[in-house]
Amino acid sequence: MQNNIILIGFMGSGKSSIGVRLARRLKRTFVDTDREIEKVTGMTVAELFRRHGEVRFRSEEKLMLHKLKNRENLVIAAGGSLTPEAGGREIFGENSIIICLKAPPEEIFARVNRKKGSRPLLKKASTLEDVVKLMERHKDYEAMADFTIDTGGKPQEQIVDEIVGRLRMS
Ligand code: S3P
Repeated sequence: MQNNIILIGFMGSGKSSIGVRLARRLKRTFVDTDREIEKVTGMTVAELFRRHGEVRFRSEEKLMLHKLKNRENLVIAAGGSLTPEAGGREIFGENSIIICLKAPPEEIFARVNRKKGSRPLLKKASTLEDVVKLMERHKDYEAMADFTIDTGGKPQEQIVDEIVGRLRMS
């Protein structure tokens, strides 16, 4: 039986920072698919995109998700490939909980602008409008999730409290 908690959501929605704290709180192991891919390939995500392109990155991401589904008791910060079309729910099964994190575009824009170099898909997204356009895929994440948490303008520990509260209810 797998009982993983998977965080999905747009870049900058807080998957990694909240994931670390949530795992600590729930005494689970935290795994970030980007960091795992970097370990396996020996390249940063930015390097992987630059040298081999997005298609290769997506296939590494998918492989990683299939590897992680065989482990238990994880909190996973999932990459952008975990979509309904890619069979996201089927990969992790009904015993896992998928949580979508969301934040207003203005806040996402501000957050990703601080670490722009590490996010190849946002390199050219120099305006808020670019981010809004890219965020169209957010509705797919939300549709796949068991529940959604708004991370906008909230301290991280409060977000973790909210998630833990929702988990207790489910
Ligand atoms: C991506 C998200 C990024 C990284 C890659 C592609 C995506 O991770 O995997 O740049 O398609 O949503 P973060 O969400 O942690 O920025």
